[in-house]
Amino acid sequence: MKKAPTGILPILSVDRRSPLPLYRQIYEGYREAIVDRRLRAGERLPSTRSLATELGISRIPILGAFEQLLAEGYFESRVGAGTFVAHSLPDEAPLPDARSTSRSTAGRPGRRVLSEASAVLGDGITPEPWHGGWGAFRVSQPAVDHFPFQVWSALLARHSRNPTRSLLTYGDPMGHRPFREALAAYLRTSRAVRCEAEQIMVVSGSQQALELSARVLLDSRSPVWVEEPGYAGAKDVLTLAGARMVPVPVDDEGLDVSAGIERCPNARAVYVTPSHQYPLGGTLSASRRLQLLDWAQRSGAWILEDDYDSEYRYESLPVSALQGLDRDSRVIYIGTFSKVLFPALRIGYMVLPADLVPRFVRVRDAMDIFPPTLFQAALTDFLTEGHFARHLRKMRQLYRERRTTLVESLSKELGDTVRVLGAQAGMHLVAELPKRLRDRPLSERAAKEGIWAMPLSACYLEEASRQGLVLGYGGTEAARIPEAVRRLRKAFRTG
Ligand SMILES: Cc1ncc(COP(=O)(O)O)c(C=O)c1O
Repeated sequence: MKKAPTGILPILSVDRRSPLPLYRQIYEGYREAIVDRRLRAGERLPSTRSLATELGISRIPILGAFEQLLAEGYFESRVGAGTFVAHSLPDEAPLPDARSTSRSTAGRPGRRVLSEASAVLGDGITPEPWHGGWGAFRVSQPAVDHFPFQVWSALLARHSRNPTRSLLTYGDPMGHRPFREALAAYLRTSRAVRCEAEQIMVVSGSQQALELSARVLLDSRSPVWVEEPGYAGAKDVLTLAGARMVPVPVDDEGLDVSAGIERCPNARAVYVTPSHQYPLGGTLSASRRLQLLDWAQRSGAWILEDDYDSEYRYESLPVSALQGLDRDSRVIYIGTFSKVLFPALRIGYMVLPADLVPRFVRVRDAMDIFPPTLFQAALTDFLTEGHFARHLRKMRQLYRERRTTLVESLSKELGDTVRVLGAQAGMHLVAELPKRLRDRPLSERAAKEGIWAMPLSACYLEEASRQGLVLGYGGTEAARIPEAVRRLRKAFRTG
């Protein structure tokens, strides 16, 4: 390693063995020296010729580095006088290292302020064992190995080999038109949703649908009813948008609308999973649906209907969407391909009341402009050529089998200790525990056995009135289930 001698450039050294090219080392060396204020505005730099001699390298990388530093405004050259550190750079004391900013600097200028809404969520993703990995019974994990990859890759190839112009240029904030036509046809016939393609906005999953809804429909501190227990992902994104969560209890008929009215009659919105309550698995009864729509109409509230996995129902036909009953354009209907296909697609959709479309378009355009087009084009063919319907039929059969095996295994291994809730639909069920058992320590012990059993209490905002384990069976093969339940039983024994 050669170092420039003191007096000329004590700050710069180059290393010929480094994988970083010489010009880059020189460029970064000078830039850091300026940012750290070791070199100050107006200071004169050596000529490239003398620097080359001092460093024992050719002039070429030095010329390259100087050119870049001139172009970026760190250096300036004066004809006949040489090259200088730019005069326009601030020439103050060195900046403190951001990493060492201590609490004592709070309140002083320059402190690093984060938003209050993000502070409510905190840092990072909780390292709770039931959230990661591939253990048995992980919630929200479809049978991805049964996805028809051959068909999918052919459809992707079809669209990417000879892409049309619309696949390459800026698109409609509502999404790819043919995809929205196909979705509208599917939702009208299979979900009893009243919609036209013009009302459908394609989003990157339900999560984005909720974020967009919050930006258009809510203000800071707007009260929003959320199901108690309910889906943490929805509560997180609504909280992040500044909304105030109002937990409303859920019973066998779904969201207790009367309790909600008593608690907060003037809520701005309600987040609800009518077809398959998450996580308890019930269905919002007909009378509650009408009561909810009636309250929303009278109070001017919005209904965010999350219809995340209603395609899977094992003992009856899928329940029709709440949106289909709405005569007052109060419902924002939200669906996703995360459960029916696979979550990494990040494709979902919302059905908007027609009069709200222009506002959603404007906000979407400001957020991420429009969704990526290629997957939408492939999914259009997947829907219209019958692959989606075929896949759903296959998965319904597969999940029914997994569900039945899980219910039987729970009954065999844990008998009267647990009560199974919500096994008639979806990809998960709840094994409710007797009051004396705490679900969290049980989930932690189960994780040590490779079982990802989410504690039901994690779905509550207030103190949990029920204890249980939320067991996903979508991604766990039927043949593995009896053994996995035996391991789960061990966690009960060691408690
Ligand atoms: C209640 C509920 N809604 C929606 C989703 C899917 O969210 P996304 O479409 O953002 O993947 C999930 C996934 O776990 C869920 O449990």
